[in-house]
Amino acid sequence: MASHRAWTSPGSLGVDAIWLSPFYPSPMADFGYDVADYCDVAPEYGTLADFDELLAQAHRRGIRVLVDFVPNHTSDRHPWFVASRSSREDPRRDWYVWRDPKPDGSPPNNWRSIFRAVGGAWTFDHPTGQYYLHSFLPQQPDLDWWNPEVRAAMHDVLRFWLDRGVDGFRIDVAHKMARDPELRDNPAELAQGDVAGIQRRDEDWPEVHVILREFRRLLDAYGDRMAVGEVGIYDPERLVRYFGEAQDELQLAFNFAFLVQPWRAVAFRKSVDRYEQLLPAGAWPTYTLSNHDNPRARSRYADGDDAGAVRRARVAAMLLLTLRGTPFLYYGEEIGQADGEVPADRVVDRDGRDPERTPMQWDAGPGAGFTSGDPWLPIGSEARAVNVAAQRDDPRSMLSLYRRLTWFRRRSVALREGSYRPVGRAPGVFAYLREAGTERLLVALNFGHAPAELRGGDHGLPRSGTLEISTDPDRGAGSVPLSSLELGPDEGVVIRL
Ligand code: GLC
Repeated sequence: MASHRAWTSPGSLGVDAIWLSPFYPSPMADFGYDVADYCDVAPEYGTLADFDELLAQAHRRGIRVLVDFVPNHTSDRHPWFVASRSSREDPRRDWYVWRDPKPDGSPPNNWRSIFRAVGGAWTFDHPTGQYYLHSFLPQQPDLDWWNPEVRAAMHDVLRFWLDRGVDGFRIDVAHKMARDPELRDNPAELAQGDVAGIQRRDEDWPEVHVILREFRRLLDAYGDRMAVGEVGIYDPERLVRYFGEAQDELQLAFNFAFLVQPWRAVAFRKSVDRYEQLLPAGAWPTYTLSNHDNPRARSRYADGDDAGAVRRARVAAMLLLTLRGTPFLYYGEEIGQADGEVPADRVVDRDGRDPERTPMQWDAGPGAGFTSGDPWLPIGSEARAVNVAAQRDDPRSMLSLYRRLTWFRRRSVALREGSYRPVGRAPGVFAYLREAGTERLLVALNFGHAPAELRGGDHGLPRSGTLEISTDPDRGAGSVPLSSLELGPDEGVVIRL
């Protein structure tokens, strides 16, 4: 087994790749997701030369870099939209989705913005007398992907970054690009949200798979490059279609199922089992606990009990890093950072996502080691206590647990590539085997606040195994009986069989 030293050497989180959210010039109406120039770096972040340097430095360390590709919409300040808006006759007019009002002056259909605070997805443009479509803010007009000129221009954007050497893309709202070309109303049943079996007309239209196959061909022409799609679809049957019938669309698609599960073993087990069953042969799973649009584990599982939330966040980390598939970690999770408190006069996001976007907490100094300037969101109030510097050399810390898990995973072929098989249904416990060749690991996670027991004998497990990692820093290493495996409250373990 690896020495403990490797786990605690500074900076050794074992990251394989980083995904950068948009850093392009933007009026920041949606914090970079309103792009005004796809092929440059916003001056507040630096220059293209800085980007090249970042890429070179990451590659030197064996870290791949994905950039965020935002194809569904541009900023309303993007020169394409400025031209499109200028007149009905402009050659760029039909790069976006413009329609006449209904005879009574109302919007062309009943589509809604994804941001509830925005309401309808259409904004009327007085000078040209038509509405334009925006699936998000009015400052984010939707491109019309039925238009071949749009496709060609966006392929050029992909080539621009691929030629600079990026390893791939995170594709923003990858399911949204294609919609009903006739712009018919969404069925009334969908007013409160998705209903299984009822096709929405404002997203996930079959043509999206054609668009993604075109992206894939472009990526494949460059060799070892990839895309992970933000497919905001919670129905796993529809989600898995984004790999493509011939595995010729997205290499990875975010699986957001964990973001909406209640903290119950049975909910997580069912979610994993169903996804595993539906994944087409050769498709690779992904899991994530949080991102810039969703609360972090410690905040999501808080339930008014912070000490318990920290323990649950440790179990969640073990879950994420021991399942079959690519884990995506949001910054701050590795130190158990809670979402920040953002006072009313500092709120900037219209969709309530400021708390999960407060700066990374590196140290206890001013600016939390993140900045010497004035960040656009306040530093989390507990940054003096919860930060990388405070946790780096503490073997009990969340950071040490993350390191142990990431390094263990890097060295374990069973965790990296092995099969997944759920084990038993002990109340409150989610347990599974990960196996490859001669390596067999049992992962058992107690989602409850009371001690729990897994009776291994009932499931054909050997009489004992060796504890590799526990989320409980006080649990001693060594041999553990599996005929009756005792788990502490909110404890997860990895056991070698
Ligand atoms: C995605 C991004 C989100 C953004 C939206 C519009 O969901 O993750 O942050 O607001 O797309 O681009």
